Amino acid sequence: MILIIDFGSQYNQLIARRVREHHVFCQIEAPNISLDAIRALHPKGIILSGGPASIYEKNSPKADSTLFKLGIPVLGICYGMHFMMSALGGSVRGADKREYGFAELLVRKQEGLFKGVEKKSTCWMSHGDSIERLPAGFKIAASTANTKVAAAVHAGKQLFAVQYHPEVVHTQMGKKMIRNFIFDVCGCKRSWTMKSFARQSIEEVRQTVGGQKVILGLSGGVDSSVTAMLIHNSIGRKLTCIFVDNGLLRKNEAQKLKVTLKKHLNINIRFVNARKPFLGALAGVTDPEKKRKIIGRIFMQVFESEARKIKGAEFLAQGTLYPDVIESVSAFGGPTSVIKSHHNVGGLPKKMKLKLIEPLKFLFKDEVRVLGKELGLPQDLIWRQPFPGPGLAIRIIGEITSRRLTVLRNVDDLLLEEIKNAGYYKRLWQSFAVLLPIKSVGVMGDQRTYENIVALRAVTSKDAMTADWAKLPHKLLGRISNRIINEVKGVNRVVYDISSKPPSTIEWE
Ligand code: XMP
Repeated sequence: MILIIDFGSQYNQLIARRVREHHVFCQIEAPNISLDAIRALHPKGIILSGGPASIYEKNSPKADSTLFKLGIPVLGICYGMHFMMSALGGSVRGADKREYGFAELLVRKQEGLFKGVEKKSTCWMSHGDSIERLPAGFKIAASTANTKVAAAVHAGKQLFAVQYHPEVVHTQMGKKMIRNFIFDVCGCKRSWTMKSFARQSIEEVRQTVGGQKVILGLSGGVDSSVTAMLIHNSIGRKLTCIFVDNGLLRKNEAQKLKVTLKKHLNINIRFVNARKPFLGALAGVTDPEKKRKIIGRIFMQVFESEARKIKGAEFLAQGTLYPDVIESVSAFGGPTSVIKSHHNVGGLPKKMKLKLIEPLKFLFKDEVRVLGKELGLPQDLIWRQPFPGPGLAIRIIGEITSRRLTVLRNVDDLLLEEIKNAGYYKRLWQSFAVLLPIKSVGVMGDQRTYENIVALRAVTSKDAMTADWAKLPHKLLGRISNRIINEVKGVNRVVYDISSKPPSTIEWE
């Protein structure tokens, strides 16, 4: 494996992606990781990430500099380079000119990290500090017009430092450099595949759990479904999934899950019909945050009372993914950094004294999808778009009533059918409808109508942090609008949301 030490770079997940693309496992850790912990991981190489601080600032993050003496190859990127240089006796200072964006990289010798790298290529720079003096034993390996030490190498000790960012796609030869580092320099093997991960995790869960029972909150989304499938493959009926129908689901959602996961894949699932308590508590509530709080509270109550019925359960499984874990590994590390729990069941383990298992906590979303395929989950489950925990409650602006839920459910079902038929479903991060709290005048068959308005929302995104409104073809939008107005009783106007995130958000509430 490759160990990545995170100094707070906005690109640290990208470094991990670049390594994993080569089927090599990597793990991101905070700079305060101890030498013993590093040794215990047996890394074949270490990558020091970039970061926003300046190494000469008083409280800038630092790792234990003895790591350079472990005999493990190290690649320092940007701030990681500055840390390496200053830890080994070189010096770093504020550059005369901040360098941001493209630069032409001139490589001196095409060997080691630079094997097969073109002598002249484009690299991506983002720094305000530069190397003033190299530590003993280091040589300049590449330069740009602005930055003399764009790369430095200590060949004997297998230490490499680069000022630019090889992990971003704008660095033309970046992928090759990372490949050279992990294979030629570190000698890694391409052994990280979802097949091997599945085999190993199934065994690990079996060992951790022993003969005990496990409970899992199943939402029907990709993460909880893949977690369920993996644990089911490991311990079979000792896993009980709890699916809470809160009355805020899409059309036939619980029914579809019953067929795919329970009937076809034989996963042990308890379906709890809790529509009454949820809808009862939500009656008359219009404030989005109040809706969320109520839904969270009732979910806890229902889940807990159902879980208590499963005698002898010792573990709670969750579908936490790696980005959530990384987000909480702060660059400054220390005891304050906590691992986030899934917000829908957060707090449950402590109260119920269950031990937590999170078999996906080292995976990115796309890896989870490959794993799901490996485990035999059906395509439509693997490629499901994210659906928020509070469900349709935050897509009905204003009061939630069963009539308004029916209208939105019918619109949503029709929209997804059209999006899927047009081949857009997988290409969109999310596509859904929002029921607005205003009515508009229309005309149907010479009659005046006074009905609801729905807004359609379709966005593209990589991680939901930012999103762009999808440029769906007008013809498709026209067909969807026509069908909704003609087929869904209670709607006489459809609008399309053309706002991006930021400054808007994906959901309307
Ligand atoms: P926003 O609306 O903040 O949404 O741009 C970002 C992503 O998060 C989802 N979302 C939620 N998911 N509980 C959830 O489980 C929530 O309360 C919630 N609010 C938003 C949203 O669907 C999008 O994918």
